[in-house]
Amino acid sequence: MASINLSENFMSQISVTIFSAKPYDKTFLEQAATAELCFTCYDLPLNPISASMAQGALIVSAFVNDDLSRETLEVLHQGGTRLIALRCAGYNQVDLLAAKQLGVTIVNVPAYSPYAVAEYTISLMLALSRKLPRAYNRVRDANFSLDGLLGFDFYGKTVGIIGGGKIGCLVAERLKAFGCSILIYEPYNQAACQGKGFELVDIDNLLARSDIISMHCPLTEDTQYLIDENAIQKMKQGVMLINTSRGGLMDTRAVLGALKLHKIAYLGLDVYEQEGSLFFEDHSSEIIQDDVIQRLITLPNVIVTGHQAYFTKEALIHISETTVSNILDFVAGSKLINKVDLS
Ligand code: NAI
Repeated sequence: MASINLSENFMSQISVTIFSAKPYDKTFLEQAATAELCFTCYDLPLNPISASMAQGALIVSAFVNDDLSRETLEVLHQGGTRLIALRCAGYNQVDLLAAKQLGVTIVNVPAYSPYAVAEYTISLMLALSRKLPRAYNRVRDANFSLDGLLGFDFYGKTVGIIGGGKIGCLVAERLKAFGCSILIYEPYNQAACQGKGFELVDIDNLLARSDIISMHCPLTEDTQYLIDENAIQKMKQGVMLINTSRGGLMDTRAVLGALKLHKIAYLGLDVYEQEGSLFFEDHSSEIIQDDVIQRLITLPNVIVTGHQAYFTKEALIHISETTVSNILDFVAGSKLINKVDLS
């Protein structure tokens, strides 16, 4: 890595400016911190305007929906920032070319708790199939009728997993234990999916045969709108679609159209392509201007949650500890095991 003289910083405290810092982030980061780190936390997203608040901070920490475009990176660089410690795995929000050109190093937390996301994915599937949100609301109103709550067994169903990485394989293993047949579309790392009783298939085969489809691949240029109108046409009538990965993997308007036609019978989303301006904040007193999400959340066969699949105690401990260790490695000039490179 580029060598930076940090001896002066070691003498004093190392200033780290943290964006999108909710109270729980602050608590866990402070628990993981060492004495030489001085955190300034802002419950504000990072963008080209807020970036000036990090003036003088060698290190900035950002989260999943922060804007790390060239414009933001230039402001940070001008203010003296040389490391951006992402508190998430995904880095699709970072202009890696601009970071490289400016000499700003990016590190991430590659896996904080794949178990958290895998377990949450399955909870979305079960809640949808057994209509738990409707049942819960009904009983609170002393309505014990079962009309409209008919579910289906997972046993014997075929589940298609798109992306057989850490989370995809955990979801697959758990659903196999339910008695499901598992299809996996994994173009790059097939070895990790072999020998586990899963069938590796191409995407069209998966779309055509699956009763439930769950997305577990990263958002890249190749995967943007992987689920579009064309892909939906290839799916079974009445399919369940789950996305706990990234909103941009699906053309949400096309998905909404397919829900109206009953082609998609169940939809579970923990991510949304326009989530940046909505998620992690309370908008309950506002009129939401985004008609697509507003329509989705009214449908009885849709569950939308606000990017909470990762949100367990274990994951927050891991995120904080890895972020602190990434920062300390950078300061010490050690090898950065979680460096995100342009490739
Ligand atoms: P991973 O890197 O272990 O697995 C991703 C897999 O997707 C890799 O095996 C990769 O080869 C595969 N892949 C790449 N391009 C693909 C394509 N075009 N089609 C199919 N597969 C492709 O990542 P991990 O830890 O399993 O995470 C998966 C995704 O989960 C992340 O990219 C992230 O977007 C999302 N995530 C969501 C969270 C949440 O709170 N909702 C929290 C953490 C991750």
